[in-house]
Amino acid sequence: MRALESQKFPSFRSFRRSKKSKGSIDVLQIHKVDGLSDPTDIHRQAPISLSKTAMLETPIVHVQSIVPAALAEFQALDLASELVLLDINSLLIAKIPEAMYSGYAYVEWYVSNAKQSAAYFQHSLGFKPVAYKGLETGSRDVCSHVVRNGDAIFVFTSALRSSAPEGSEDKETVDAIHSHITKHGDGVKDVAYYVNDAQTLFTISTEAGARVIEPPHTVQDEYGSAVIARISVFGDTVHSLVQLQDYAGPFLPGYKPPKAQQATIFDDLSPIELIRIDHCVQNQGWDKMVESCSKYSRMLGFHKFWLVDEKDVSTEFSALKSIVMASPDEVIKMPVNEPAVGKCKSQIEEFIEFYDGPGIQHVAILTDDIIATVGAMKLRGCEFISVPDAYFDNLRERLATSSTEILESMDELQRLGVLVDFDENGYLLQLFTQPLSDRPTLFLEIIQRHNHNGFGAGNFKALFETIEQEQRKRGTL
Ligand SMILES: [Fe+2]
Repeated sequence: MRALESQKFPSFRSFRRSKKSKGSIDVLQIHKVDGLSDPTDIHRQAPISLSKTAMLETPIVHVQSIVPAALAEFQALDLASELVLLDINSLLIAKIPEAMYSGYAYVEWYVSNAKQSAAYFQHSLGFKPVAYKGLETGSRDVCSHVVRNGDAIFVFTSALRSSAPEGSEDKETVDAIHSHITKHGDGVKDVAYYVNDAQTLFTISTEAGARVIEPPHTVQDEYGSAVIARISVFGDTVHSLVQLQDYAGPFLPGYKPPKAQQATIFDDLSPIELIRIDHCVQNQGWDKMVESCSKYSRMLGFHKFWLVDEKDVSTEFSALKSIVMASPDEVIKMPVNEPAVGKCKSQIEEFIEFYDGPGIQHVAILTDDIIATVGAMKLRGCEFISVPDAYFDNLRERLATSSTEILESMDELQRLGVLVDFDENGYLLQLFTQPLSDRPTLFLEIIQRHNHNGFGAGNFKALFETIEQEQRKRGTL
């Protein structure tokens, strides 16, 4: 029996409208079943998904293509209150104006002690303080320390009290900080994008189902003004849509220059020069990856940029699947991961357990000299994953039969444990830090690109073997 081409399915919207039924299933996710010969095979091939998700009342069935009779059988089951087609190759992509996005604006952490978190990024990653708000600037309930290296900007935000007084404009923020930290530990709250029309993008995304956190509003001070809106696409993570207008201050309206200049000892340390945020990665739970991608597609106009599955990203013990979503002009790339079945717990599952839900797993920062950057970060005390020498033995063998030439010293890369992924056109160099907190959750990646737009799929297997060594030490494998 011939499988349907994905484009022969009804479109997302028409399909959604066409199905009216009374069951409790909210989402039917249609993926691929290879070699499907009988509609009822679906039930045999996806019994775990059916039974597991049925308990959650949002069942997802993993079938990437489906024969008409099988589709009819699903419809006959009358399970879905809204039957939604989620085919990663034919996502409904929101039409948004050309060049809406111009890159990552900043990443904001909610942390217990913003002052010390900002200091860590100065000590270990060569960031410099650029802006501040707190008691001294008139912010009575919340403080934020903003640090910057190149165009990579991180904001660390803490509450100044257990709850803000009635009438405080930051009352909801104070409560949100406490609940975020209680649930997730220190973690990323906001992945902010620079946009050229915050109102339009807010309208498109919220009409498509994005949660409203803050409607578009103008903020201004003596340095100028900006329009900012905030939405949420998944979990407790939000996206600020930042439209700078005539602003020429240290960060955003409402912020002042930092309280104190950096200590002069930093001038004596090896410099670390970063360029910008390259990508931010989100981890989703079981069966949630395509659902999250489809939200980014229809709410924010993102499209599929790259995909790997468990065949590429698995080791004997743990596995994951990953889809990289990108903004229309591809200035923003957001990989979305979910666990895949392995002998032991997937590192994605470990994240979900300790973070207590989906969230940002790592932020990758671009450099044009990874040897100098990683070397200086190690001298400054930053901890990276350890890469076994066997990885480099294998790498040298693979490079020997490749036309790709690595310009950097292989001995230096091995000394620092920098990973190399390559194809016939170019290569990338990358290395991952240890988790930044005691919870094994958020970490950083340092990445250098030489005509290579990938994310390190060739390194995944080698990388995860090393991550599993660390998991084994923590007893969470
Ligand atoms: Fe990455």
